Amino acid sequence: MWHCSFSSLSLCCLFLLITITPTDCYLISPPLLDWINSTCKECSDKSADINYNFCVTSLQAIPTTHVTNLQGVGIVAMELALENATNTISTFEKMLSSKEFDPFAMNCLRDCLELYADAITMLVDAFVAFLAEHFDIATVLMRTVMDVTSMCDEEFTEKKGELTLLAKENYNLFQLSDISSCIIKQVSSVPSQLPNVSS
Ligand SMILES: *[C@@H]1O[C@H](CO)[C@@H](O)[C@H](O)[C@H]1NC(C)=O
Ligand SMILES: *[C@@H]1O[C@H](CO)[C@@H](O)[C@H](O)[C@H]1NC(C)=O
Repeated sequence: MWHCSFSSLSLCCLFLLITITPTDCYLISPPLLDWINSTCKECSDKSADINYNFCVTSLQAIPTTHVTNLQGVGIVAMELALENATNTISTFEKMLSSKEFDPFAMNCLRDCLELYADAITMLVDAFVAFLAEHFDIATVLMRTVMDVTSMCDEEFTEKKGELTLLAKENYNLFQLSDISSCIIKQVSSVPSQLPNVSS
């Protein structure tokens, strides 16, 4: 058992955020699955866009973040969104440099690359706002990230059948951002949970 105060959690996870690689950032582990399951249940009940299984599978994907409160689950969700956006940018770059696409698709890819670069900035700002308990700002930013994924999607769907791979990536980030907003909302309505992460 490692008692981890909120500030060391923040530092630890900011470190995670900067390196975007899993670290040995172990916190207290007991019923993480319970937290993830109940959070995903509540969020999928509230939003038609959140799929329960997607939510549970995604949030379980970072095994090192054994966090026992809702705020910790929120941090995991936001990290996943950031990691997703970062990976998708690499995908865009690979596609652009492959030169395998027609001019229409290349234009879309360049636009999406710019949109996603903005999304990364928004995700980092949202993370900082969340840790500072500026939940309204964090929520607005996560919603804007959702809009960004829709805009990228629309670019391609102007021409039917183009690049369905990106539709999947856009939808992943859309859902992860929606899950994050849902958790931010839950955290903001339970302020008493904020000070400590230790059990
Ligand atoms: C959480 O949900 C998963 C998938 O729905 C299920 O397999 C698991 O048993 C649940 N765990 C708990 C602790 O409820
Ligand atoms: C984005 O997140 C989803 C859900 O966690 C995952 O299945 C997918 O592989 C991720 N994609 C990238 C590019 O990281």
